[in-house]
Amino acid sequence: SKFDLIVTNGKVVTAADISTCCIGIKDGKIRALAESFTTDEVEGARVIDAEGAYVMPGGIDAHVHLSQDLKTGPHALGGECADNFETGSKSAAAGGTTTIITFATQTRAEEDRSLINVITAYNARAEATGSYVDYGFHIIIVRNDTDVLEKEMPILMNEWGVSSCKLFLTYETQRMTDSQLLDVMFAAKKNSMTTMIHAENGDMIQWLTDKLEKKGMVAPYYHALSRPPLVEGEATNRAIALAQLIQNPILFVHVGSALGARNVRKAQTMGLPVYAETCPQYFHLTWEDLKRFHSPTCFENSKMICSPPPPPDASDQEELFVGLENGTFTIYSSDHCPFRYDDPRGKPAGVLEDAASMEGEHHCTGDELQSLLKRKQGSFRLIPNGIPGVETRLPLLYTGALSTGRITPQKFVELTSTNPAKLYGLYPRKGAIMPGSDADLVIWHPEDSFKGFDLTNSMLHHNADYTPYEGMNFSNWPRYTILRGKVIWADGEIQGKPRDGQYLKRGPSKLVRGAAKVTQDPRRVATWLYE
Ligand code: URP
Ligand code: ZN
Ligand code: ZN
Ligand code: ZN
Repeated sequence: SKFDLIVTNGKVVTAADISTCCIGIKDGKIRALAESFTTDEVEGARVIDAEGAYVMPGGIDAHVHLSQDLKTGPHALGGECADNFETGSKSAAAGGTTTIITFATQTRAEEDRSLINVITAYNARAEATGSYVDYGFHIIIVRNDTDVLEKEMPILMNEWGVSSCKLFLTYETQRMTDSQLLDVMFAAKKNSMTTMIHAENGDMIQWLTDKLEKKGMVAPYYHALSRPPLVEGEATNRAIALAQLIQNPILFVHVGSALGARNVRKAQTMGLPVYAETCPQYFHLTWEDLKRFHSPTCFENSKMICSPPPPPDASDQEELFVGLENGTFTIYSSDHCPFRYDDPRGKPAGVLEDAASMEGEHHCTGDELQSLLKRKQGSFRLIPNGIPGVETRLPLLYTGALSTGRITPQKFVELTSTNPAKLYGLYPRKGAIMPGSDADLVIWHPEDSFKGFDLTNSMLHHNADYTPYEGMNFSNWPRYTILRGKVIWADGEIQGKPRDGQYLKRGPSKLVRGAAKVTQDPRRVATWLYE
């Protein structure tokens, strides 16, 4: 037969257009877009009727933490990542996402000096379970060994297709000094690797945290007070200056403050290649959510702790919305970083001195957990940072911004699929609906017949035991998720398998351009470095 699968009667949305047409798929690729297909062409193909709903390129979630153990966790505090590749990618599929990019993490341990070792070990974790969706890796770099960078960055780029690295300005075990940051940025620039920056001022955070603790202000809520918007404001400004000095394009991950967004916007207006990612939590949570449970001092509020924290109130969210609309934000990712609340090695790890040694005490019951918690005086400083969200990412943007008319369907596709594909070297294989592209699609419910529903965590497929969005009303949800022509999620059921996903070797960014002429004056910035 000419096609294996045909999607009819959809409002097909790309980053540019919306058109009512049919999509013909063969051997995992999109082969044809047409107003209609002939009976001959339809013969032998499975037909999915989209019933007038939006059909979009499958979601690309470029910021997902999976299978990061205590040693390589997002920060020194330990905390065991609740999802491995199997559970995390299943959750992605159920939320309309067909590609995830996850983090392999270098540590300062000597065996992690080699980035190739780090990637090889992390790849083994992905291969151990397999993935329901396609996946690639970023590398987190925490050391400035220039011999390693010079020798291994080309191998990462060319052999592994790992074309992006993440650098930290905070977390004691991961942050680098300005000169160390310059070393890695310089190597990244020379190798056309995209530099992602976690922009929070680590000194400000530590200083404020010490002061808060001395006053006994240790409840989860004070996590927010230890990271006021100025923390991101300072760090974004500094990283922009460092990058400008050596002409390195940068992308700020998880920008959560109006101040951070303003700094990014200003740099973009100057013509600098500065990009930014934002995440659902910065539009749907505020500081108030860190006081949500029982009382402001209840430890359960640790469920809402992530870094940067959500913005103080709705006025910041309004400004972030402007950034979504006007292009300040290039991509919208989840920063899925799941910890269980009933696992002493999850959210409570922070208050348990010996959490790391608690082998076999997974998922203990509420009573056990309470007695464990009572043994220690907790502090927000010790709570693992991060919240789950790979499955709710697209539905939250649909509910909060598309249904409400704040963004167009095309902007939705740009932020969630096309731009991540371009930025991270996957375009046009991913992020596009055109002949030759992978047949990765998300098909929504038709708006006139879908009633919406209230979310509970039991509906989700991650291995976290809560969602920050419990009880929230969702106006739509992916009805079908299609990975390279295979239906992996349909009408509330997982149809895919953990070996459906393939590893993606990525190329250099197709989005990042050089700085404008005006910002390349050799007297002002070090263009001579490259002569
Ligand atoms: O709180 C967060 N965002 N945890 C994940 C680690 C990171 O910095 O992205
Ligand atoms: Zn980060
Ligand atoms: Zn409580
Ligand atoms: Zn993250």
